[in-house]
Amino acid sequence: MAKFIVTGGLGFIGSNLIEYLINLGHFVINIDNGSYSSNFYNVKDFKNNPNYRFYKSSIDSQTNIIKIIKRYNPKCIFNLAAETHVDRSIDSPSKFIKTNINGVYSLLETLVKFKKVKLIHISTDEVFGNIKSNLRADERTAYKPKNPYAATKAASDHLIRAYINTFKIKAIITNCCNNYGPRQNPEKLIPKIITNIFKKEKIQIYGKGQNSREWIHVLDHCKALYQVFKKGVNGETYNIGSNKNIKNIDLVKKIIFFARKRNFYSTKSKIIFIKDRPGHDLRYALNSNKISKKLKWVSKININNGLINTLEWYARNKKFYKFIKNKNFKSRLGKNR
Ligand SMILES: NC(=O)c1ccc[n+]([C@@H]2O[C@H](COP(=O)([O-])OP(=O)(O)OC[C@H]3O[C@@H](n4cnc5c(N)ncnc54)[C@H](O)[C@@H]3O)[C@@H](O)[C@H]2O)c1
Repeated sequence: MAKFIVTGGLGFIGSNLIEYLINLGHFVINIDNGSYSSNFYNVKDFKNNPNYRFYKSSIDSQTNIIKIIKRYNPKCIFNLAAETHVDRSIDSPSKFIKTNINGVYSLLETLVKFKKVKLIHISTDEVFGNIKSNLRADERTAYKPKNPYAATKAASDHLIRAYINTFKIKAIITNCCNNYGPRQNPEKLIPKIITNIFKKEKIQIYGKGQNSREWIHVLDHCKALYQVFKKGVNGETYNIGSNKNIKNIDLVKKIIFFARKRNFYSTKSKIIFIKDRPGHDLRYALNSNKISKKLKWVSKININNGLINTLEWYARNKKFYKFIKNKNFKSRLGKNR
C-alpha cells in the first residue's frame, strides 16, 4: 500500500483517480478547495472508506500542504487541482492565473522542502494549440497555447520543468487529451449534450461543429497516471491519448444515436449552431507512442462503449445534478454558454 495525495479530488478526473487508487488498496488524501466545479456527490462511493481522507484547502496554502505532507508522508502528489473551463478562462482569466500558475508555483516551493515526494502534474493537449490535420503533437512539439486556460497550463508546465532542472525536485508532467466519463461537470461538452437531452433542450454547437478533439475515457486516463507513477522517469513528460479524433458534430450525432436507442431522446433536443467562441482551436491531437512504448500503456476503452457507459451513468445518477454549484453561470460570451 502506498500513500498518495490527489489534489482536485472533488472534481471529475480527481475523484475517478481516487476511486481507482483506493480500489487498488492504496491510501489517498484528497486536497480540494471546494470551488464551483467541485461536487461532493463525486466522492460518495468512497468517502467512508478507511483509506480515504479529505482536506479542504487550496494548493496555494503552503502551511496546509506542509502539515499534510508531514502527517502522512505520501510517496506522490497527483496534481489535478485547476480551473479547467476554457469559456470561463475567457470570461475571467484571473482565477486561472491564481490556481493554475500561482497555485502550482506554491506547490513547487513546498516540494523543494520535501524532495522525496514525487509530483505528477496533470496537464493538457491544449498547450500545443491548433494541430494541422494529419499531424499529432508529440512530447517535443513546441507549446503554442491559444486561450487563457491553455496558456496558464503551459505556464505551469514550464515552471515545473524549471524546478526539476534548477532545484532537482522529482516531477513528471503528463499531457492528456479530452476526457469523458462519469462525474464530469455538465458545463463540459459531453455531459452538456447528455444533460440537454435529458432536459429535452436544444443542443448548441459552436460554429459548424467542425472542431476535432481526441477523446479518452477517464478510467483509461487513471490507469495511465498510475502507470506513470510506477514506471515513469523523473523529469520526463508523457502524452496520454487514445489516438482517436472526432469532430464535435459527429460526436453529438453519436450521443443522440445512443440516447435514441435507450429512449432518452426527444426531438425537442435539436442541434442548433451558435456563434463560435473567440480563439477556438480547430483541432487537438496527440502522438502517444512514448507512453505506449516506454511504459507499456495503451488506451483500451472504445469510444462507443465509453459513451454508452457515460450516458447510462448520468441517467442513473440524477442526484449528481443536485450537488452542482453555481449552475447559473452567465458568460460574457453570450447566453447559455
Ligand atoms: N477534463 C479534461 O478533459 C482534461 C484533459 C486534460 C487535462 N486535464 C487536467 O486535469 C485536471 C483535472 O481536470 P478536471 O476535468 O477533473 O477538472 P474539474 O474542474 O472537474 O476539477 C477540478 C477540481 O480542482 C479543484 N480546485 C480548483 N482550484 C483549486 C485550488 N486552488 N486548490 C485546490 N483545489 C482546487 C476544484 O474544486 C475541482 O474539484 C486539470 O488540471 C485539467 O487541466 C483535464
